[in-house]
Amino acid sequence: MSSIDGLVSKKLAELGVSEVAGLAPLFSEIRACFDAEIFEATDETTWKILRDAWLGRKSGVLARITDNWLKPASPDLKRGVGAALNELRTHTESAIEARRVAIESSAAQSAAARDAIDLSLPGVIRPIGSHHLIRQVFQEIEDIFVSIGFSVVEGPEIETPYYNFEALNIPEHHPVRDDMDTFYLQLPKGAASPLLLRTHTSPVQIRTMEKRQPPVRVIVPGKVYRRDNPDATHSFAFHQIEGLAVDTDITFCDFTGTIEYFVNQFFGAGVKTRFRPSYFPFTEPSVEFDVSCIFCGGSGANTHGVTCGKCKGAGWIELFGAGMVDPAVYGFVNYDARKVNGFAFGMGIDRLAMLRYGIDDLQVFFQNDIRFLRQFP
Ligand code: PHE
Repeated sequence: MSSIDGLVSKKLAELGVSEVAGLAPLFSEIRACFDAEIFEATDETTWKILRDAWLGRKSGVLARITDNWLKPASPDLKRGVGAALNELRTHTESAIEARRVAIESSAAQSAAARDAIDLSLPGVIRPIGSHHLIRQVFQEIEDIFVSIGFSVVEGPEIETPYYNFEALNIPEHHPVRDDMDTFYLQLPKGAASPLLLRTHTSPVQIRTMEKRQPPVRVIVPGKVYRRDNPDATHSFAFHQIEGLAVDTDITFCDFTGTIEYFVNQFFGAGVKTRFRPSYFPFTEPSVEFDVSCIFCGGSGANTHGVTCGKCKGAGWIELFGAGMVDPAVYGFVNYDARKVNGFAFGMGIDRLAMLRYGIDDLQVFFQNDIRFLRQFP
């Protein structure tokens, strides 16, 4: 613009123009200058600079032409300057407006291009998690028991020795505490009671009977803790489901019927069951419950006569401990031991899941390796 800067800041007389004929070359030079500059406006900022340089009220090119050429012009020249100036004004105004529209639409276009969705691209796959296999087995077992009238309850993982032992008829110096006297919490001096991580889900039997009157039919899924060194079949944390049914007329037959129903539902018909005498302080009589090995069909060997690795040739797999609730337990929950009777059982879920899915290392349940978890969607 510098070339015309000199022109528009002078008077016509100073430029040596005194006749109408001298106006045309002047205005066409100015117009040519504008026509070249207009393309320098490529975005909003440069467009505003251009607009102000040409149309600005005080010092725009057109304002200066008005002040320096038009106003002081002799009457002879004034008409010609006025006409040429009007023409220049129309030209610059409409070109500047057209430029604005062009800049805006190209900005909109590039924004649209930026935001455009390319439907041919593969979508973003958001991985959806699934329930852990242990949770799935819990769910399956819960469904089976719920279908025959049990309800699901839960209890705390941190227990007092009273619930974990005493109320289950395991007094302080009873030998069965040996393998359960394990994870105690460090408590501030003067704490009301010692606390430990529960070693089985059986304390929830007590908590349930304290709250409910018979008939009681519950199952209790949950985590339990024992001091065990981790290997393929041991872990310091594992999972159990406790079962408890108490009413006025429950017999050992109800117990066996319930368990057989469960086993048939869970493992399929054709699985044989057996009880072996056992001992738990909170059941009397107590049993250990086995199912015929689902891998070798109970024969103890595969079709080639090789000893079955799952049951180690026994043909049976130990599933859980159980029994009729010991009347002594009712004393702790204010049930009338002469009127009520019932059964309880507790099974290890991890073992059950390992059997069912042919998993040979318990640790995979706790490692959360995605390659393992993905196999059980
Ligand atoms: N709580 C026992 C255990 O963990 C299992 C059990 C539960 C036995 C209920 C009898 C009745 O070994």
